[in-house]
Amino acid sequence: MTGAAGGIGGRLVTRLVAQGYHVLAFSRKADTAQQPFVTSIACDLTQPAQIEAAVADLAAKKINLQAIVHCAGVITPQRMGTTNTACVSAQLMVNLEAPILLTMLALPLLPAGAHIVFINSMAALVPLEGSSIYTASKFGLRGFALSLAQDVQKRGIHVSSVFPGAVDTPMLRREIDAGGSPLNFVTAPATADEIAAIVQKLLRVPRAEVFCPSSDGVLAQLMLMMPRVWRLVLPVLLKKGRKGQKKYLAAQQPSDK
Ligand SMILES: NC(=O)c1ccc[n+]([C@@H]2O[C@H](COP(=O)([O-])OP(=O)(O)OC[C@H]3O[C@@H](n4cnc5c(N)ncnc54)[C@H](OP(=O)(O)O)[C@@H]3O)[C@@H](O)[C@H]2O)c1
Repeated sequence: MTGAAGGIGGRLVTRLVAQGYHVLAFSRKADTAQQPFVTSIACDLTQPAQIEAAVADLAAKKINLQAIVHCAGVITPQRMGTTNTACVSAQLMVNLEAPILLTMLALPLLPAGAHIVFINSMAALVPLEGSSIYTASKFGLRGFALSLAQDVQKRGIHVSSVFPGAVDTPMLRREIDAGGSPLNFVTAPATADEIAAIVQKLLRVPRAEVFCPSSDGVLAQLMLMMPRVWRLVLPVLLKKGRKGQKKYLAAQQPSDK
């Protein structure tokens, strides 16, 4: 699992260990606090050489992977019009290129019945103003997952994508601080554990795509098919989102902000 030390990843590690999995937890920092049934693997996903080395090490140890969960992600809101290009490659690398590279390199370690899960985002369907690079990376990740599913079907490998709306994690709080889109708050944010539970269930009962909440997924897919209607509805959604964001911020303890 990548992003294993993050908000969603951390909850998922706990759930999977309780279920009997041994988790190979990718993170930039090797965790020195040993947890039973969790092996920490230091890997910066912006560095292809580190991804290659980590997978080569697993291959040398002849490890069979039951599942790969791509959970790492990064968002740096930035309205187009500025010329600061520094954050472009990090977002594309962590959110899109690294999952592709890691999947390609680790495929030989996956037996029939194994499962690849991508933690995507509702931003793969709803273009977020001010977060175009993140949006582009998540649109791309959806396309990769849908193509990959066809490529590995004959080998009996399942591919799933999960599309959360806002989730109450450090990422969401950083996103708000950096001026992220109020569309995140059209519906109240889910908890990290709710998303972890969905992934855990997916690993038992594979499905191609799961939207959370599912009502937002239906709306987002309709809107994507009708961009003109989307432009008409957008102001209403933004108004609702701003209200939701205010409510979310008001509910935060000062120490959480
Ligand atoms: N929170 C939301 O509102 C929300 C909504 C929709 C989708 N998502 C998606 O859910 C996934 C998990 O997000 P989260 O909310 O749990 O965020 P989070 O708490 O910020 O965790 C993100 C994780 O990504 C890892 N990461 C970032 N840059 C990395 C790099 N260069 N190399 C290796 N790992 C890196 C971090 O690992 P280390 O710091 O340990 O290296 C961290 O554990 C992401 O894919 C995100 O796009 C989140």
